[in-house]
Amino acid sequence: MNRLMTRWLTALASLAMLATTAQAAELPRVRLEGGASQLIVDGKPFLILGGELGNSSAGAEAQADTVLPHLASLHVNTALVPVAWDQLEPQEGSYDFRVLDHWVEVARRQNMRLVLLWFGSWKNGFSEYAPGWVKADGARFPRARAVDGTPLEILSTFGEETLKLDRRAFAALMAHLRQTDKQQTVLMVQVENEVGLVGDGRDRSAEADRAFNSAVPASLVQALQSKRGELTPELAAHFNPQGRNWKEVFGDAADEVFMTWRYASYIDSVAQAGKEQYALPMYLNVQLPAPLERAGEYPSGGPHPYYQQVYRAVASHIDFYAPDIYWPEFEYWVQRYQALGNPVFIPEARLQVAPYNALYAYGQARGFGFSPFDIDSLPAPGKDGGQDPLMMQVYGALKQLGDMLPAAQADNRTRGMVLHAKSPRATQTVSLGGYLFSGTLARSWPEKTLLTDDGAMLVLESAPDEFFVVGSGLHVNVRRDPDTDARVAGISSIEEVTRSGAGWTVLQRLNGDQSNQGRQLMMDPRQIRIYRVRLHAFAR
Ligand code: DGJ
Repeated sequence: MNRLMTRWLTALASLAMLATTAQAAELPRVRLEGGASQLIVDGKPFLILGGELGNSSAGAEAQADTVLPHLASLHVNTALVPVAWDQLEPQEGSYDFRVLDHWVEVARRQNMRLVLLWFGSWKNGFSEYAPGWVKADGARFPRARAVDGTPLEILSTFGEETLKLDRRAFAALMAHLRQTDKQQTVLMVQVENEVGLVGDGRDRSAEADRAFNSAVPASLVQALQSKRGELTPELAAHFNPQGRNWKEVFGDAADEVFMTWRYASYIDSVAQAGKEQYALPMYLNVQLPAPLERAGEYPSGGPHPYYQQVYRAVASHIDFYAPDIYWPEFEYWVQRYQALGNPVFIPEARLQVAPYNALYAYGQARGFGFSPFDIDSLPAPGKDGGQDPLMMQVYGALKQLGDMLPAAQADNRTRGMVLHAKSPRATQTVSLGGYLFSGTLARSWPEKTLLTDDGAMLVLESAPDEFFVVGSGLHVNVRRDPDTDARVAGISSIEEVTRSGAGWTVLQRLNGDQSNQGRQLMMDPRQIRIYRVRLHAFAR
């Protein structure tokens, strides 16, 4: 090899090394791509097949050794794990990362990722996870107060020392991750948990009263005014930029909007301190208001959709807002978050209906992640009367779709639907690739009784006239979408398939009674399956 060639090769090798280092240094980030939500990890979209742990499942090192392998066996690729301030800083100023480090190490061994939940000043409104030395010193770390002056188990957003030390602890956590988590096992961080004042619409301490009766910050009024045409109906109905104090500017919503501003400012400051150390994506989760609930019955001041634009005006270090959905109107809440410009990530969802709602979240809302709460309570594979948990079946199927899924989400080639026996409409229809897919819950023949109370599907267009359908419990009719053309549509073939290497193996061809004589995709009423459906259309 001559000298010139050797130099070239050395230069090329250094360039390659530089590129690798640059890539390794690239932090995860969240983006919206063609209407799809993406979490970019190592330069490409990463789909979180997530699960949040029960509140008492991650407080000890040893728990990682059983919980994470269990989750991995359920095809969960990302665990949402609490990090409690009281555990991290048992004595003021001295930090203990042992529990966290072990969880990160076990996750890495299991080839799993983590999202950390910073249980700092607040968790579900209350301040249980603040260190004992914070909770014991009501003078230095003041509490929010009830209307009769009683201090609550809730740290006040006016506590300057509390904010200072929450910031310091969170910054220590993020600095520690920057130094120790070179492989980026931790992808994102949730700052605090379901914040808001519980018990009343607003803090009634003397300091809160003073601020409440003073002028609303001009910067907030201006920020909302500049978005006047885009304000949510709830905010627009109350907003009066001509007013001066909170009551005048926000009318009947003043208590809650005031608390929203307080929590947004405080949490943004905590997030800023963390981001200065290590700028992972940071988001806030929310307890959603139930119909007819008053602020204070649900945490008053959280970033739920009604007044979320106050957070957006104030909290520039928060990347997005994410709903914890336990209420039945899953699709409604997802859409309200999308309408505000949030990428779709569901950090907590009700476990029992999660397998169905997941297919809506990934397929229709084109989300980058979904995470049922209390995932570690699911039985091990095959331990529930020989069955694998349905959630595991969903994640297993999505894993088989692999890179096809994020690519199809970004090209707007996925759809999804979820139906329950109590759904307001018995049939739902989605349009994809020139066809209308109408799903209804599976029924027996000839009695026509429901075979299941729940059904859902994710449809992915893989090629013209070819679709992968993941789901269970639905019977699906297909016709041509009249907005595309007036041709006549039909089913060419339905196969139940499974991934084998780069290709697919056909497990079963569904014909005759299993396809209603070629007229319907009839899914298994209870098990999640992957179907490859080929359609045709011809001129009338
Ligand atoms: C929402 C909270 O964020 C979770 O930590 C948990 O408490 C669930 N509610 C309810 O079990």
